Amino acid sequence: MKTKIVTIDSNDFNTMELKEAAEILKKGGLVAFPTETVYGLGADGLNPEASGKIYAAKGRPSDNPLIIHIADFNALNELTADCPENGRKLAEAFWPGPLTLIFNKSSKVPYSTTGGLDTVAIRMPSHPIAYELIRRSGIYIAAPSANVSGRPSPTKAEHVIEDMNGIIDMIINGGKVEIGLESTIVDVTSKIPAILRPGYITEEMIKQVVGEVEYDKAVLSRVQDPDLKPKAPGMKYKHYAPKGDLTIYEGNTKSVIDAINKSAEEKLQAGFKVGIIATDETFSSYQKGSVKTIGTRKDESTIARGLFEILRDFDSEGADYIFTESFENNRLGQAIMNRLLKAAGYHIEKV
Ligand code: TXA
Ligand code: MG
Repeated sequence: MKTKIVTIDSNDFNTMELKEAAEILKKGGLVAFPTETVYGLGADGLNPEASGKIYAAKGRPSDNPLIIHIADFNALNELTADCPENGRKLAEAFWPGPLTLIFNKSSKVPYSTTGGLDTVAIRMPSHPIAYELIRRSGIYIAAPSANVSGRPSPTKAEHVIEDMNGIIDMIINGGKVEIGLESTIVDVTSKIPAILRPGYITEEMIKQVVGEVEYDKAVLSRVQDPDLKPKAPGMKYKHYAPKGDLTIYEGNTKSVIDAINKSAEEKLQAGFKVGIIATDETFSSYQKGSVKTIGTRKDESTIARGLFEILRDFDSEGADYIFTESFENNRLGQAIMNRLLKAAGYHIEKV
């Protein structure tokens, strides 16, 4: 299949290309598009044949449900069996934006989209291209991250092209995304809302709106525990993983730098390619291997935005081993550490 790659300016929607993208979606095709979190791979969420193509393109297990993207609040009446008070409050506070809510599904939502579950994940994205694409196509767009299953999520169109060129109908290049980590997922089907996947919308922000919030136990675990079955099926897979072997070093800054330099030296001596994930603050402390800065510790959002890109860049360089510093496990740092732990297969060295 020939994939049409188009560039759309976020401030100018009167393009033939956006119209064409909407037409492709309406007809059951696949279009990758930017959102504020990561690039999504979209198809008609109420058309089982169309969403089936998503699973094939990504190589995604069929029990891993998709998020349905909407552009107006009325969609909730159509897609959900009921909208609990907490769900309504969270939607009003954070939509459009990087929050996905889990509701009991209506009969309109096919099981092929929900991976056989009676619940449905819904999100209203704020990125102007995503929002406008949903609005113009007039359908509800099921969209997982636009990567091949298991690879780091795409934060720029080049990443989508790497994974999806020749496999899908169209890729919309809307530049680099703003946030860089997937949406926060909150289950509002139980009395106390539960965070199933941490993201840009933090526990503190959610508490301000609904008072109380819990965590799915699997989210907080720092070891891979086969008995902890995450409520978001996708969180159980080895995920976000670069091809190289990634290790996280945790401890005070000096010990971490010393330990990473030592490990880098050993692996280089043995003839391997080594990548080091540094921060602006520590960049000059590493002398060996390929050293890249992920962002500045003064602003965690730069680290969130840089994470998946840096993992992909080390893939392109063919790094055999990647060593990274760790990050504070609160606020946005919680989402960063959640993805990093999965990418590392939970391999942390305490130093
Ligand atoms: O930011 C995002 O959420 C991006 C953009 C494109 O919107 N999308 C995204 O989709 O990250 P995906 O498919 O890569 O991740 C969706 C996650 C998976 O872990 C899946 O298991 C979970 O949401 N999920 C979907 N429906 C669910 C449901 N009914 N109950 C529990 N978890 C669900
Ligand atoms: Mg994904």
